[in-house]
Amino acid sequence: MKVINTINQLRECLAKYREEGRTIGLVPTMGALHEGHASLVRRSVEENDITVVSIFLNPTQFNDPKDLERYPRTLDADCRLLEACKADIAFAPSVKEIYPEPDTRQFSYPPTDSVMEGAMRPGHFNGVCQIVSKLFMYVEPDRAYFGEKDYQQIAVIRRMVDDLGFKLEIVPCPVVRQSDGLALSSRNALLSDEERITAANIFRVMNESRSLGLTVQQTRDYVVDRVNSIPGLKVQYFSIVDGDSLADVSSWSDAPSIVGCITVFCGPKPIRLIDHIRYK
Ligand code: PAF
Repeated sequence: MKVINTINQLRECLAKYREEGRTIGLVPTMGALHEGHASLVRRSVEENDITVVSIFLNPTQFNDPKDLERYPRTLDADCRLLEACKADIAFAPSVKEIYPEPDTRQFSYPPTDSVMEGAMRPGHFNGVCQIVSKLFMYVEPDRAYFGEKDYQQIAVIRRMVDDLGFKLEIVPCPVVRQSDGLALSSRNALLSDEERITAANIFRVMNESRSLGLTVQQTRDYVVDRVNSIPGLKVQYFSIVDGDSLADVSSWSDAPSIVGCITVFCGPKPIRLIDHIRYK
């Protein structure tokens, strides 16, 4: 696997592959890679001739500087995992390389980017669109792979791809979970063993709520009350939304696909965890 740090080197290298008619898959990441990322990389390796994995802790998508500061940084281990998954290129640029000047571009795709994470973390999706659009321009991938764990992020990126006319396929990949249901996330590295066990209740409660025959409002209340009743967990929001537009629904017949999206604070630090569940 090649480790590349500059945009020019990356472009040169990919131009050769493209001339040879090879297809390119891109897996954007912020590092601190785990089995969830590995599943995206393996899928890209299966479906493309060349797989590029970007490792870039993108400062413009963090609205809380403390969150950025404590985000795990594990470049050596990340490269070992990527070698094992048979990625071809790890693109690990510096912040100066990506943002030699502040990025002043503004992206706005309501309601996908204005609700839930968009409302709680102002500017977050703007930063995501800034970095992802740059990566799409540098790599020009045939396919780009994103984990469904960040369900809302995929909805926003789809809108950006349509808006800017990128010619590529967005490939959403299923959430990878521990055996107790906890969704794998780089932030789990910040949880104690006990907090991890507690955090597994988030998915357990959402999953339970699917089989109770409740209305949308009752389901909302059930999940929020149950999760909040577990010591160490505090729901920030739980929204039941149209799976495409992410607009709130009030009845199960409001949309062909309906998803519940949750954000929970776990433990005293606290660590902010997100997850979702599909109702239909
Ligand atoms: O999902 C992530 O890890 C990030 O938001 C992404 C897509 C790599 C952009 O920085």
